[in-house]
Amino acid sequence: MELIKRPRRLRSTPGLRKMVRETRIDASSLVYPMFVMDGESRVDEIKALPGQYRYTVDMVDPKMEELLDVGVSSIMLFGIPDHKDEMGSQAYAEDGIIQRATSYIKNKYPEMFVITDVCLCEYTSHGHCGVVCKCGSRHDVDNDKTLDLLQRAAVSQVLAGSDMVAPSDMMDGRVAAIRSALDHNGFTDTPIMSYAVKYASSFYGPFREAAGSAPSFGDRRSYQMDFHNRREGIKEALLDVEEGADIIMVKPCMSYLDMIRDVYERTDIPVAAYSVSGEYAMVKAAASQGWIDEKNIMCEMAVSAFRAGASIYETYYAKELAECIREGRIG
Ligand code: PBG
Repeated sequence: MELIKRPRRLRSTPGLRKMVRETRIDASSLVYPMFVMDGESRVDEIKALPGQYRYTVDMVDPKMEELLDVGVSSIMLFGIPDHKDEMGSQAYAEDGIIQRATSYIKNKYPEMFVITDVCLCEYTSHGHCGVVCKCGSRHDVDNDKTLDLLQRAAVSQVLAGSDMVAPSDMMDGRVAAIRSALDHNGFTDTPIMSYAVKYASSFYGPFREAAGSAPSFGDRRSYQMDFHNRREGIKEALLDVEEGADIIMVKPCMSYLDMIRDVYERTDIPVAAYSVSGEYAMVKAAASQGWIDEKNIMCEMAVSAFRAGASIYETYYAKELAECIREGRIG
């Protein structure tokens, strides 16, 4: 009889399965995205993100403690100002919401690694990620005018205590611009995590509700990437590496695992994957109907990102995932 090859042999016991596991994950790889808003004594639930909230700075403590307790020691902050204007001035105001939140958290919880999102869309009245200009008969975002404001935003965040800046605007040349601004201000050791491979995606819907940042006209397709393109994503990643990015992010995650793998293979810096608001919302919605097992699905999604090549995983499920790792469900 011909010999049957038996891959099942290595699946026979839990111990053996764990021993031969190819992907290992740890809570130190998780980043929790968090919304902070102007005002006082308020915690508002985000409708399309059940279990996720916007916090005023004075209300963040329980969340910080909860995260640190389970071993999640990285957060990504998004600021939501009361006042929005054409130029997104609160993004680079010394006493802006993200600056105040960063400085509060870093002072009180120095062990928390605070990453700050560098973009203008949460701060502009029109909701675009940069300065809007009229190019002939159509409105567009002026790339080079925006760079100047992004530099100011990044420097002001680091002055407030940010450990790492994460530009998510998708302007050309912004990594180099931010690197040089940080260096000029003496912040040569502050890394840049660039959202280099960021697609124009409907998966960001719930985030835009949370941040009030849906564009009031047009869409983001003149700066975020067309989701039909793969090689262009590699081009974006390589350019950002050249410009000095320390980490490359791919976003969204679940529909873009090919891009995580490509960037992992084509660059030699860490790859981060951001499982965005729409991914979380879909799981929550189906789970609330009893149609899927929330914990198992969330674990499977997370492991797939690491298997594809990510070493950092940003998710609204960071705390729950850390608990699953602790329980030995995954890891
Ligand atoms: C832009 C930004 C967005 C997200 C992160 N940074 C929204 C957008 O590009 O419209 C989306 C994240 C999510 O959906 O969870 N500052």
